[in-house]
Amino acid sequence: MSKLDDLFPKTFVNVNGNITNAVDAKISIFDRGFLYGDSIYEVTLTEDRSIIFWEEHLDRLENSAHLIGLPLSLTREQITEEVKKTLVKANLERAYIRLVVTRGEGIISLDPNTSTQNNFVIITRPFPPNPSEWYQEGVKLCFVSVLRNDKRSVDPNAKSGNYLNNVLAINEAKQKGFFDALMVNKDGYVTEGTTFNIWLVKDGVVKTPSLESGLLKGITRTKLLKIIRENNIPFEECSLTPDDFHQADEVFMTASTKGIVPVNRVDEYHYNVENFKRVKELTTYYQGMVESLKNDQKYRY
Ligand code: PDD
Repeated sequence: MSKLDDLFPKTFVNVNGNITNAVDAKISIFDRGFLYGDSIYEVTLTEDRSIIFWEEHLDRLENSAHLIGLPLSLTREQITEEVKKTLVKANLERAYIRLVVTRGEGIISLDPNTSTQNNFVIITRPFPPNPSEWYQEGVKLCFVSVLRNDKRSVDPNAKSGNYLNNVLAINEAKQKGFFDALMVNKDGYVTEGTTFNIWLVKDGVVKTPSLESGLLKGITRTKLLKIIRENNIPFEECSLTPDDFHQADEVFMTASTKGIVPVNRVDEYHYNVENFKRVKELTTYYQGMVESLKNDQKYRY
């Protein structure tokens, strides 16, 4: 067994329709995703052999493609078929799925018109439950000096493979001993975390930075907003400062791979996760929503 086999047990990769194990999955060094981060991607999970929120992830993939002017050479149906084929091969009850689409290969030139055809990569691997301490005790986050991209730069609402700012951000947080990082925009308003959206509760009102702040419209975020509206929970999508988080009663993050995770500390400010009433309420609703999807035959494999 090679090192990669050890790192990625039971991982199957589909590169342009060719399904192999992790070690044999290969892509050209002239691929623009590799050379320039000229790619887009999606991440979701499966539960009991059903792909969670798949339609919404496809919608966002198409929107990301549109935002960076990347023509997709496969239809939604073709992409879904390839994903299902890979999941069947991997034979996993609960899987992590990463779908990466690059602008393809070409001569070494920034000019996107020199590229050939998209490369489609689908990675599926087992997804064991996240550590229970995250949900029981919470995690600690800090604001870092690295800014979230401006919307006039690579729009944060495009889920592109260009994540170097976020890599620098999490590295800064890890060096300070934190779990992960929160980023502000050039005006000092809070945007999101490196791979998650961020929320607070103050006096019973749930608040999250608005899209104008410059952030990725998370699928979990959108689903939670729906739950909040349907249950008449007081809510605001607005501009928020780091100090709003410091003074909050509850803080939590959301992402497809994590669900809802309580935050027990932001910078030097601590919160008592045991008293997080809203987070508990929202978690129950969200888990119910995910549970109800498992019977959707369309996304079973
Ligand atoms: N990250 N913000 C950023 C910058 C993200 O990369 C992500 C997702 C989110 C949350 O979006 P969603 O609820 O759709 O997962 C917010 C994925 C999980 C990742 O990169 O692995």
